[in-house]
Amino acid sequence: MSSTGEEPAPRLLIRDLAQVATPGGRSAPLRGTALGAVDVIKDAYLLCQDGRIAAVGPMKELGSLGAEVVELDGRGFSAIPGLVDCHTHACFAGDRVEEFALRAGGAGYEELHAAGGGILSTVRATRAAGEAGLAAVVERHAGWMLRAGTTTFEAKSGYGLDRETELAQLRAIRAGGGIATWLGAHTVPPEFADAGALAYVEFLLAEVLPEAAQLAEAADVFLERGAFGVEESRRYLEACRASGLALRLHGDQFTESGAIPLALELGARSVDHLEATGPTGAAALASSDVVGVLLPASALFLGRPMPPGRALVDAGAAIALATDFNPGSAFCESLPLVCSLACTQLRLTPAEALTACTVNAAHVLARADRKGRLAPGFDADVALLAAEDWRYLAYHLGGPVVHTVVRAGRIAWIGSA
Ligand code: NIG
Ligand code: FE
Repeated sequence: MSSTGEEPAPRLLIRDLAQVATPGGRSAPLRGTALGAVDVIKDAYLLCQDGRIAAVGPMKELGSLGAEVVELDGRGFSAIPGLVDCHTHACFAGDRVEEFALRAGGAGYEELHAAGGGILSTVRATRAAGEAGLAAVVERHAGWMLRAGTTTFEAKSGYGLDRETELAQLRAIRAGGGIATWLGAHTVPPEFADAGALAYVEFLLAEVLPEAAQLAEAADVFLERGAFGVEESRRYLEACRASGLALRLHGDQFTESGAIPLALELGARSVDHLEATGPTGAAALASSDVVGVLLPASALFLGRPMPPGRALVDAGAAIALATDFNPGSAFCESLPLVCSLACTQLRLTPAEALTACTVNAAHVLARADRKGRLAPGFDADVALLAAEDWRYLAYHLGGPVVHTVVRAGRIAWIGSA
């Protein structure tokens, strides 16, 4: 699936598109009114060359290109930037369908976790899978994401919780084309049940961090009751930062337990979830450069309150949207579905949703200079929607809205919608 080592991408012209829609400008992250400012060119073309976008504009301005160009007929389609999923747990073995059925019958997510199920049941399956098995699973999941329009994805470890499996997860994520985040501090494994969370963190820092820092770009922690508290999280994150990793936090998923103040104190890239965030936390986040990553598929899947998306945007926070794709709290790889939820549940506009899962998500992954916009010089990552109005991205709830995906200037997937 990767273009590395392949022949150079041919020149690709996508012509006669009903619309090209892209977040405007060049800066990132976007917030306030800029978050919802999407440029739309009607009756448009996109020219890709050497894996990058060479030109974009109205058909009437398309000059002669000579013979060496592959053409893709865009009639009836609209084009948006390839989507960027900045928060997934796509490297896991097994499933949690049994737990899903139990939850449908009334069991609680935190209750199942406390009883040794939940995340720990995925840890058991992931430890047993072997590195080749994990690589195969990441590749499979990356294919699902690609068909939903995602051309760039992040994925976390956190289902190994031992040295060997955490590092195997990070390698498998990279092998599958993902951007790796080390989530060693996802939950306390059974081996440390007696010694406790701080002892587990010290093990992680002494035994896993040196190699994890070579494989991952960021570190993440689940700061929550029943997982890690502020002190353990600070210890873990400060050491990770000293090893060169960017910082991210799972915070305010069930309770406001201090994740936003800690994220601000440490200069984290993002704090993710925020379903439990109140007005004080929202105001603090809005006054900072930390991105709030909203995961409405997770709230939906767990039947939990939605994060305060509109309030965060109105307060001036930089927000991104992501799937949280994982087997327990969000078995959903579709950013178009997340965009639908953002519009119907978080009260964002389609334009705000698009920016949140392109430019702003790319910013969380430190790639906003190359990803998330359809503009000259950016990577030629494009999702063609099977609709003349790009807002079908959010409008067509759960529908087969993504028709064709171009990545690095090559056709990576063509559907049949
Ligand atoms: O982001 N909340 C912590 N971690 C994941 C869920 C992981 C799981 O249930 O397997 C999340 O929701
Ligand atoms: Fe998550």
